[in-house]
Amino acid sequence: MTQELTLRTPDDWHLHLRDGAMLRAVLPSTAAHFARAIIMPNLVPPVVTGSDAAAYRTRIIAALPEGADFTPLMTLYLTEATDPADVAAAHASGLISAVKLYPAGATTNSASGVADFTRVQGVLEKMAEIGLPLCVHGEVTDPDIDIFDREAVFIDRVLDPLRKRVPGLKVVMEHITTSQGVEYVKANATDLAATITTHHLVINRNHILAGGIRPHYYCLPVAKREEHRVALRIAATSGDARFFLGTDSAPHTDPAKLQPCGCAGCFTAPNTMAILAHLFEQDGALDKLEAFASLNGPAFYGLPPNNSTLTLTKGSRDTPSHIDTQDGPVTVFDPGFVPGWHVSARSSC
Ligand code: NCD
Ligand code: ZN
Repeated sequence: MTQELTLRTPDDWHLHLRDGAMLRAVLPSTAAHFARAIIMPNLVPPVVTGSDAAAYRTRIIAALPEGADFTPLMTLYLTEATDPADVAAAHASGLISAVKLYPAGATTNSASGVADFTRVQGVLEKMAEIGLPLCVHGEVTDPDIDIFDREAVFIDRVLDPLRKRVPGLKVVMEHITTSQGVEYVKANATDLAATITTHHLVINRNHILAGGIRPHYYCLPVAKREEHRVALRIAATSGDARFFLGTDSAPHTDPAKLQPCGCAGCFTAPNTMAILAHLFEQDGALDKLEAFASLNGPAFYGLPPNNSTLTLTKGSRDTPSHIDTQDGPVTVFDPGFVPGWHVSARSSC
């Protein structure tokens, strides 16, 4: 039986690092296991312009632990006022790797997102022209649509028409949670990929709601029925190049989550790689973990895979149940089992 697994160092193609004290508290967890990450721009206020992204990038670099080998891949938060020329300049200088589309009101800090999609047509056309990917939070926000249907309805009503209006636009469907998301990606040969989170490979909606409400499993898009979790597991472990890891690790303090209207987000950065090795082994797909975590993402973004490696070794190790921040503890995602693997080494190239 395999006792050790060495992968090209993984990247995280969807990560929330926040800012200030929270940034300093959570960044070491990601920098320990990942070489690069796509950094979500949903700060307050959001990262909207090239100069916002440059300043945020500087703050992230300053917060890195001594000797860390980690590159933040910056994104801009698309608003109806986004200037195509600013996006193009930020891309040309190498500062940004993607633009993020949040439908207005869809999730944490998305109030400045897009309500009228015709207003972003010019930016999207510019992005298609220069080959800059659009990362999409794929949920409609119409209060009449049941929260468990929001992703499937988004694909039909928003995403498919948008992709037809902007041929050639590279799109990443972020954190897909449904079999409809998987099928939509598989039906489209080019210019479309999807990230899948660690937690959506583990939990379904029963984990959140059955036998008591568990706020630490509440995230957006919300976990769906078991059949959808199974569809995500099959996609992630298939080796199909259109599916790759985006943890959506989204730290909130316990006081912010444990209240009558608690925040959405699971903090998975510290134990993601151990959990993934456990899941891929369970599914007889350890040989596909490198594709999912380390190869498919860079290929879609047009970047080389990392030259360095990360080694996982069989055997469990304790993961702290939480990390401390100035504003309170942040609970680490509990997969409900003890991962049978741990990260044991990381080499530089
Ligand atoms: C994210 C956050 O907290 O910023 N929350 C989450 O549940 N995933 C926002 C997001 O990606 O939807
Ligand atoms: Zn997210």
